[in-house]
Amino acid sequence: MAQTVTDLFEKARSHERVEILRAAREQGVIPYYRVLEGEAGPVVRMEGADRVMLGSNNYLGLTRDPRVKRAAMDAMERYGTALTGSRFLNGTIPLHVELEREIADWMGTEDALVFTTGYQANLGAIGTLLGPTDTVICDSGDHASIMDGVAMSHAKVRPFRHNRLDKLATMLERAESDGGGVLVVVDGVFSMEGDVCDVPAVASLARQHGARLMVDEAHGVGVLGARGAGACEALGAEAEVDLRMGTFSKSLASCGGFIAGAADVIDFLRTQSRTYMFTAASVPAALGAALEAVRICRSAEGPELLDRLRANALYLERGLSDLGFRVIETGTVGADGDAVVTPVVPVLIGDDWQAALVWKALWDAGVYVNVALYPAVERGGALLRTSVMATHDRDHLDRALEAFDGVRGLAEAAAG
Ligand SMILES: Cc1ncc(COP(=O)(O)O)c(C=O)c1O
Repeated sequence: MAQTVTDLFEKARSHERVEILRAAREQGVIPYYRVLEGEAGPVVRMEGADRVMLGSNNYLGLTRDPRVKRAAMDAMERYGTALTGSRFLNGTIPLHVELEREIADWMGTEDALVFTTGYQANLGAIGTLLGPTDTVICDSGDHASIMDGVAMSHAKVRPFRHNRLDKLATMLERAESDGGGVLVVVDGVFSMEGDVCDVPAVASLARQHGARLMVDEAHGVGVLGARGAGACEALGAEAEVDLRMGTFSKSLASCGGFIAGAADVIDFLRTQSRTYMFTAASVPAALGAALEAVRICRSAEGPELLDRLRANALYLERGLSDLGFRVIETGTVGADGDAVVTPVVPVLIGDDWQAALVWKALWDAGVYVNVALYPAVERGGALLRTSVMATHDRDHLDRALEAFDGVRGLAEAAAG
């Protein structure tokens, strides 16, 4: 009997997003793949015009800091353009060793391991530590790289609804009879809404049930805490967290990621993690830039940058709220009793098309923001994800607020 084989490429043609994308392209309202024509900064050159950048993770603005650029150039001069091999064979240079030492010291952990990207750090840690007989418990808002690591591990997955600690407790109870090791994985700062996980409460529940805890600090490192060490520090929970993941691709002005934790676990990852062993090491320039950015964060300048970032986030948040936009607030309080403020200021629009239209109106008015649609957010929860940098000044933010003022009508139409 003849076999019926479907054309694998058919899904590329009939995918539900293809039609939407075509229509959006025709209307010129695609918010994605826009081309940056200059340096990343508070104002950027994008597709022929200068635009206030409210869509970047370059939170401290260090990508154009002369010291960071110099460190990247020095690293390239010394070690060449690329390492052309895996960390464990021929791709480790002294910058890796220094960076790992610096990060472990910053995080207050015994050791740290540097991966080529943060995505690979999550895949490498979760996919290696967990196996089919183990259980992983994740917040439904966790980053895609965590979920991909979970898929790679083949562990039993017990997800819980975003920030619902009662559901986390239920999952932890159920996991007790699963028979294997249990890992809870959460984002310290959730990437789209910018809300902060209640790490102390999650850690306490995990401990009660004998589970280990890993926190993704991609948006927390270089942003939160007096030392800039992330949400775990800001919430006074560093000692309760077993593994902390971070990336260099946001406030640390480079590319790459890390896992910090106990020496024996890090050493296990160093010899077992496939996303560490079977891929090329970062380019030297990326390592040089990351090391310098970490050092700036840890210097006396770090707290000043963080203060400016926080002040800018509050200014934008207040400005947008005063204009009547629906800004999602986090309301988390840190270990020092102050509100924990992240650079992410999300504006809820709701409808996907309306979000694209508001985005386009802002773009035309000289402001670039990110648009988050399902599945990055819940269905019907389309967001304009704005984010500030420490290097924005009031004039930049006022220009952006003026543009938002001009698109109020469109956003109100979305709110019905
Ligand atoms: C929460 C979170 N985790 C992990 C990553 C992956 O980091 P990287 O960009 O270094 O691959 C990102 C970046 O998008 C992120 O937002």
